[in-house]
Amino acid sequence: MNWSSVEPCASVMQNMSSEISQPFDLIISGATIVAPHNREKGRWTVEVADVGISNKKIAAIGALNQSEAKSKIQARGLTLLPGAIDTQVHFRDPGFPEKEDLVSGSRAALMGGVTTFFDMPNTKPPTLTALDVADKVSRAQNKCWVNYAFYIGASPSNIDKLAELENHRNVCGVKIFMGSSTGNLIIGSDENLERVVSKLTRPFAVHAEDNPRLSERRRIVEQAPGQVEMHPDWRDVETALIATKKIVALAEKYSKHAHILHISTAEEIDFFRVHRNGHVTFEVTPQHLTLVAPECYAKLGTLAQMNPPIRDKRHYEAIWTAVRDGLATTIGSDHAPHTLAEKKQIYPKSPSGMPGVQTLLPVMLDHVHNNRLSLARLVELTSYNPAQLFRLNSKGSIQIGKDADFALVDLNAEKTITNSWIESRCKWTPFDGYKVHGWVVATIVGGHISMRDGEIIGSPMGSPALRT
Ligand code: DOR
Repeated sequence: MNWSSVEPCASVMQNMSSEISQPFDLIISGATIVAPHNREKGRWTVEVADVGISNKKIAAIGALNQSEAKSKIQARGLTLLPGAIDTQVHFRDPGFPEKEDLVSGSRAALMGGVTTFFDMPNTKPPTLTALDVADKVSRAQNKCWVNYAFYIGASPSNIDKLAELENHRNVCGVKIFMGSSTGNLIIGSDENLERVVSKLTRPFAVHAEDNPRLSERRRIVEQAPGQVEMHPDWRDVETALIATKKIVALAEKYSKHAHILHISTAEEIDFFRVHRNGHVTFEVTPQHLTLVAPECYAKLGTLAQMNPPIRDKRHYEAIWTAVRDGLATTIGSDHAPHTLAEKKQIYPKSPSGMPGVQTLLPVMLDHVHNNRLSLARLVELTSYNPAQLFRLNSKGSIQIGKDADFALVDLNAEKTITNSWIESRCKWTPFDGYKVHGWVVATIVGGHISMRDGEIIGSPMGSPALRT
């Protein structure tokens, strides 16, 4: 356990509600909680406290041993984190029920301590209109086990509507695919890209790979069937860097905010270091922080194939540096399930993407155990920062008045991730057989214990994750 970057400071109990005599719906007692004390000064409080929950909200933090509650969790020895907000999942609903749907994806999220997800628009049909969003909401309502919001895809067909669509209550933001990945949702020309950026007012998410370069270089892998280790040669560093530079230039020109997803190269990170001007933030994935080329391709074959690719140690180290020194803003799983039969096709016919929503916290908790980042920094990347960036003001931290969404974790548990544990429809994980220190033992959604000791309990409690 690494508490080194967590500065001891005044107790969170000073925040304790004065109305603690009421019977709470739930008390989680005796857990070590990780809560912001003075986040601007980089200070987090890590201490033992009880948390009282009423009406789906955090009502009190402090010593609640004299208080009544309808139910209690004895959590001594465990650590209470705000539920993770996974800002990048592909739950494939509608269109690809053999890979995933909103119910199976949300069950996987629940098992892994993710209490809110932002779903990507490359479904069938793609999410491009208010009607498409309404359809997704109706598929999620009363059926999702965790909270949800949906990205709107930027397409040549909806450019003039995007400014309105990005403010739809169930939309977390606009997603721009600069390079093609799974599906054919792509913004196309530079002219279209500029029109989109000029219209948006909220942070927008970007898949930054340069499509002309991808098309031009596709022959490299067409001529080498079966050689998935060439994936990072086809989708090379320049492919990512060209697109990243282009979108950052546009964000700067129009004073907008680009949030660039799954950053995979040391060169992009160097570039971000000199462009810290409020117009760009970026996300990294647990895969890029855990798997390394060429070993991952030798071991996992096409199961390690994703876009942008897993690269060699130099890039891995640069991404870790950005995690540790505060440059990276969020961690998202890029949960992108495909069936094993699809993945077993000969590369490059095999689709890119791997599931990750369920393994995000266990894999990252193991990195905490191995002193690669502090627990407070993990909470910042998976809960606090996503909530701030996407203005989910009621989520992202353990504070009075916030939504009662938590991941209760045992930092000392030693577990092995296995395919049989995976709730996702695709039933596999690149981390099958991976041993971790740190495990999510319960997930609480809106004050309701929805997963405990690996068992899903009750009925789905997910609700729309709305800006407040
Ligand atoms: O590898 C990927 N797969 N990267 C993406 O950005 C899309 C995803 C998918 O939808 O399969």
